[in-house]
Amino acid sequence: MGTYVVTGAASGMGAGVAGRLRDHGHDVIGVDLAGAEVAADLATPAGRRRAIDDVLDRCGGVLDGAVLAAGLGPKRGAERAIVEVNVLGVTELLDGLRPALAACPDKAKVVVFGSNSTTSTPLVPRRAVRLLVRGETAAAARVIAARRGITAPVAYAASKLAVSRWCRTRAVGADWAGAGIRLNVLAPGPVLTPLLRSQLESPTGKQVRSFPVPARQYGTPEQLAEWAALMLSPAADFMVGSVVTVDGGTEALLRPHDWPSRLPLRELPRMLWLMAKAPARGQVADYSAV
Ligand code: NAI
Repeated sequence: MGTYVVTGAASGMGAGVAGRLRDHGHDVIGVDLAGAEVAADLATPAGRRRAIDDVLDRCGGVLDGAVLAAGLGPKRGAERAIVEVNVLGVTELLDGLRPALAACPDKAKVVVFGSNSTTSTPLVPRRAVRLLVRGETAAAARVIAARRGITAPVAYAASKLAVSRWCRTRAVGADWAGAGIRLNVLAPGPVLTPLLRSQLESPTGKQVRSFPVPARQYGTPEQLAEWAALMLSPAADFMVGSVVTVDGGTEALLRPHDWPSRLPLRELPRMLWLMAKAPARGQVADYSAV
């Protein structure tokens, strides 16, 4: 049986994943503001440091997997906290826990909770996303503040775009795929958890309710916990840097022609360079240094 860290383990989908893992006999180190093994505020540098140190202490330096589900929804006035928790609460934790994941004798699996807001929110400034990918949350918050009126949804979508891109870039590299760690993103649409309920009950609840979902139902934490469990299983040994969208069809409805998309011409030189690195015909190249 394995040892897993689950952030946001006290509520919603994080609680669903933690419960499912425990039911299958695994040890779970939950991280949350309260109500979990490790109490830490992932909105602050000190809280993130405490979470990393506590988890490394409890797992004895070896983790079979990590699920990063702690997150804040698009709440007005909480823009800075949204980017701190949703971006640095993932990236700093993963950087800190990476040695323990690499020490797993099997392939360790990481599931990061993204969101389909990444592909369905307009007016997200590219600059804010770029800053967030680099971890520059204060500068990104200033760029987001200029989007008067819709700052909370923009902060939320920017945070999830940044964290998804950070994951995809890292996932294929020497320290992650090259070290046997499988890092992937699960991107839910509306799932009936306390986070969504508070949005439905907020002044913008009518807009949230009117968002198109072809499945004509919300997801449940149990359904998403099943997807996360699959992405933690050996079925994910061959899965690297994927963003798995489970959203009742919203993305397909809004973006039918955007994905899959052709390889842009600007990527061709890089692709040829990668191909040139391939060893003898018939062998799979070692991209661990890419
Ligand atoms: P939830 O609100 O039920 O659970 C989130 C957990 O994160 C809570 O236990 C909360 O205490 C914890 N958390 C928040 N701020 C924290 C902080 N500063 N330090 C430590 N822990 C903190 O939310 P839900 O819906 O289960 O969300 C899980 C993940 O899925 C989040 O990352 C969310 O952004 C994402 N998501 C949720 C969707 C939904 O419709 N519910 C849709 C798409 C993505």
